[in-house]
Amino acid sequence: MQEQLHKLRDEALAKVEEASTTEQLDEVRVAYFGRKGLLKAAMKQLKDVPADQRPALGQLANAVKNAVTGAISERREFIQRVEAQVTAPGMDISLPGVCRSIGREHPLRRTEAELREVFARLGFEVAEGPEVELEYYNFEALNIPADHPARDGFDTFYIEGDVVLRSHTSPVQIRVMEQRQPPIRVVVPGRVYRPDTADATHSPVFHQIEGLVVGEGVTFADLKAVLTMAMRELFGADTETRFRPSFFPFTEPSAEVDVSYEVDGERRWLELLGAGMVHPKVFEAVGYDPERYTGFAFGMGIDRVAMLKYGIPDIRLLMENNLRFLEQL
Ligand code: PHE
Repeated sequence: MQEQLHKLRDEALAKVEEASTTEQLDEVRVAYFGRKGLLKAAMKQLKDVPADQRPALGQLANAVKNAVTGAISERREFIQRVEAQVTAPGMDISLPGVCRSIGREHPLRRTEAELREVFARLGFEVAEGPEVELEYYNFEALNIPADHPARDGFDTFYIEGDVVLRSHTSPVQIRVMEQRQPPIRVVVPGRVYRPDTADATHSPVFHQIEGLVVGEGVTFADLKAVLTMAMRELFGADTETRFRPSFFPFTEPSAEVDVSYEVDGERRWLELLGAGMVHPKVFEAVGYDPERYTGFAFGMGIDRVAMLKYGIPDIRLLMENNLRFLEQL
């Protein structure tokens, strides 16, 4: 009998849930509580069970009855609420619904994730640093003194006093080296700021990924190997890299690195990175012995990588949040 009551309860509750009109709900009510109702019948059987079991079973039967009547009135309220809504004046449920579009990852985020992955496979950890930075980290510690002409190219937005919006991810090199000892192999993705006038290839806000490797016996050959491999991973196995001599105050020697790509069967080069061997002055700033350690660093524009990968002609498209553009990627 106990089992039978449990079964009745479960079946009744399931039918209550299925009812979607008050009429259907009434049918359920009659089926269980009407004159020939199933629960009613079960209650009647109670008088035939042995007297010592009757109190317990009676209680159970009552609990089942209460659970089912409770569920019926809750369901009734719900159905009535919905019915009131769909019959409200001005409501037309035959109109098409509002379809929310499903978002997707921004091409910059996707490119950054891919870069993190490529460098993770080459053994790099990820580090991050603040976008609002001290002048010391953005300039001085990187061997760019206040009166140095190289400041012009990196000059940035000043917040107040010695606080700036960082103009590159290189200050995080210093922050990482201050925190730990070699060997170091990190990449640092992040947003950077420069007071550039926006055009197809410039934006006052853009993104970089910095790389830093420090250890004993690290050479320019390692730099070339890492970047060449990374570019092939990113853009395909036949991608070539071109290293041109350049200058950065925090690397010596320094290079600009271009990557080959093809347009209509014609080979072109895009400048994608600055790179070089970490300058001894930088090691001195963080208390590393420049006689013992060598290292290389590079900084790459993530926006440029995204533009190349997705064939985006104008960097501003990446910042404008125009869905007609973003939905194409
Ligand atoms: N910080 C340099 C820039 O923003 C790039 C760079 C990074 C060059 C590391 C050399 C080494 O242009």
